[in-house]
Amino acid sequence: MAQLWGGRFTKETEKKVFDFNASISFDKALIDEDIEGSIAHVVMLEKQGVLNLSEKDSIVKGLTEIRSEVETGKTRITDEYEDIHSFVEAKLIEKIGDDGKKMHTGRSRNDQVALDMRMYVRKALDATADSIVRLLETINRIMEDNIETFMPGFTHLQKAQPTTLAHHFGAYFEMFKRDHQRLKDTYRRMNYNPLGAGAFAGTTYPLDRNYTSSMLGFEGPTANSMDSVSDRDYCIESLSDLSLIMMHMSRFSEEIIIWNTNEYRFVEIDDGYSTGSSIMPQKKNPDIAELVRGKTGRVYGSLISLLTTMKGLPLAYNKDMQEDKEVTFDAFKTVNDCLDLFNGMLDTIRFNKEIMEKSAVRGFTNATDAADYLVCKGVPFRDAHGIIGRIVIYCIDKGISIDEMTIEELKGFSECFDDDIYDAISLKTCVEKRVTVGAPGKCAIMEELKKNKEFLEKIKEET
Ligand code: ARG
Repeated sequence: MAQLWGGRFTKETEKKVFDFNASISFDKALIDEDIEGSIAHVVMLEKQGVLNLSEKDSIVKGLTEIRSEVETGKTRITDEYEDIHSFVEAKLIEKIGDDGKKMHTGRSRNDQVALDMRMYVRKALDATADSIVRLLETINRIMEDNIETFMPGFTHLQKAQPTTLAHHFGAYFEMFKRDHQRLKDTYRRMNYNPLGAGAFAGTTYPLDRNYTSSMLGFEGPTANSMDSVSDRDYCIESLSDLSLIMMHMSRFSEEIIIWNTNEYRFVEIDDGYSTGSSIMPQKKNPDIAELVRGKTGRVYGSLISLLTTMKGLPLAYNKDMQEDKEVTFDAFKTVNDCLDLFNGMLDTIRFNKEIMEKSAVRGFTNATDAADYLVCKGVPFRDAHGIIGRIVIYCIDKGISIDEMTIEELKGFSECFDDDIYDAISLKTCVEKRVTVGAPGKCAIMEELKKNKEFLEKIKEET
């Protein structure tokens, strides 16, 4: 049990108290951030005359060695330390002696951990944004390939009006685009440096917080030292961003699962991304989509967990806040794994275009267009709606679609029907006529694709 704070105590901590209190089993993930932050801190201390050059050099060298020894496995991070900060400091003192004891001058673990977490979250936000870009590229590619792949659009999960696969996927492009923007917004808001806040009241040393901020790539120092060590908003905001990503991926997964059923057969998931059954040889299951849908609950759980942890905390630091780590780490890992696998599944999926098109024809998705046809011939819309409703009953009874009725049959329902009805309600016409901004018609979709391309080019330039 190696601690940083034995001086005030006359008795050893109970082993189970030490274990309960310790965070090393999970905050070891912060080792790189911890060392980078400490290097910036001591370089600044030397610049400010708090440390001399040789002390700074020996600390920086020691820290750099510890980092590479942990990387190569020469030094192992073990449970005998309370947390990653204690581990690094203890190893440093072991390595360089008394100089190492000066590293923590003008710093508290409160601003240290606040710094480490911000650096971790900021990196994870970027990695997640990159994964979203890869998914957006796949969605965009599928859109480009399927401008004329007709399919039914649904409301209430019932076939409603015809659309195209490009249009359907375009909806997801918009969702993930907003997700990307949210991650970037969160990054911009949180990229301020808490180092130098000390325990919560700053320090009496002449720290240059602007200097460490620019060394560590922050916009500047955080404004209030009390807030700096108490704020976990950026973790919660990130978890909220991640929850929305999962919600979108889960809806998408649900559709893939439905489209993959024997009843729909709109898609075929590649063998590499599906799994079999131990008993039923015919099975090919959409496990990736199901797991993505399932893991959504886990990410929401992280968000609710941290919101609840923070809701009753008085200022400034409280040990409750150590609970920010596991949920944040887990949520980022879960979302990044899900994005990666979901993207791979989507990139290799095959669309049964014929089945999709047939499904649109068989599902009376042109009923609105048939009513609109009558409207054009002078029938009031409400009457046209009634006529087409009766035609649908007739078709269901005969097991045919509206365009399979003869003109005589149609005229039996309304004298206004003419031979041009067949063209007016063909799937292609129904879609092509929808050219308002954001609609599935070819002209509109081409515009949408142009905007997608501009967006992808712009974000690539920014990275
Ligand atoms: N492991 C702690 C955490 O993650 C580090 C900060 C400890 N600070 C303290 N005052 N005990 O929050």
